[in-house]
Amino acid sequence: MERSTAVLVTGCSSGIGRATALAFARAGFPTWASARRPETLAELAAAGCRTLRLDVTDEESRAAAVRAVVAEHGAVGVLVNNAGHGGGGPVEEVPLRLVRDMFETNVFGLVRMCQLVLPGMRGQRGGTIVNLGSGAGLATPPTGCPYAMTKYALESFSDALRLEVAPFGVRVVLVEPGAVATRFGATSERHNPQVEGGPYETFKRNVEAMTARAHRGNALTAEDVATVITRAAAAGARGPATRWARRPGSRRSPGS
Ligand SMILES: NC(=O)c1ccc[n+]([C@@H]2O[C@H](COP(=O)([O-])OP(=O)(O)OC[C@H]3O[C@@H](n4cnc5c(N)ncnc54)[C@H](OP(=O)(O)O)[C@@H]3O)[C@@H](O)[C@H]2O)c1
Repeated sequence: MERSTAVLVTGCSSGIGRATALAFARAGFPTWASARRPETLAELAAAGCRTLRLDVTDEESRAAAVRAVVAEHGAVGVLVNNAGHGGGGPVEEVPLRLVRDMFETNVFGLVRMCQLVLPGMRGQRGGTIVNLGSGAGLATPPTGCPYAMTKYALESFSDALRLEVAPFGVRVVLVEPGAVATRFGATSERHNPQVEGGPYETFKRNVEAMTARAHRGNALTAEDVATVITRAAAAGARGPATRWARRPGSRRSPGS
């Protein structure tokens, strides 16, 4: 990947997006860090990132962000579709509003971002789209509705898109981290349906205890995932890998 390649990262106010923007900027790429609240990006600006307001559920905001990068660099060279949030519960307790909201952010926003950057990538006959999938997109955890559903959708979407855009030199990579220590868990908690008691109470408590046991002292850092993302992007046309899994406890970042 050439050092002049422009990188656009969504959801940089915290966690993996923030670490990824920092990693690209430190590696010398023109990096555009974006967030719904641009005031959260001051530290990234100080580290050399350009900053943008971008809410991936808002068409005006999405189009303006891509236009800004294209105006300066001709095209977005690497798009990291990181913005997303979790949440869920037993299907019977999950409001349809939560299912819709989560698909708006984790799936529809991401699909639209791809549509917006593709003309530029095709024009320059190259580019890389990195989508943030999840281990939850490969094996559904209990109470995985709707979060796991959105990440399963990205598996299919990424496979469909990859074949369509490969002839234009555009790569599509799916990164599938296991548990990562960010504020993701706390944010997800806020989205969970708040139902006290009820027929699923014991089931939910057991799932919570199981999840806490699985994650205890065993989570990746946001920087671990940022390293996988920058490597996946840098692999360019040489990289045969289309899926990059990274599990807590594993030393390698295998592609498959
Ligand atoms: N943490 C994990 O265990 C884990 C595991 C596998 C995959 N992932 C995936 O990794 C990605 C990043 O998660 P994280 O762990 O870094 O969590 P995080 O720290 O909560 O970061 C999520 C980011 O997404 C942003 N976001 C949410 N809705 C948005 C919208 N409509 N438009 C633009 N930005 C929006 C948030 O911005 P605000 O500050 O505005 O809310 C925040 O910057 C997500 O796609 C997640 O599904 C996480």
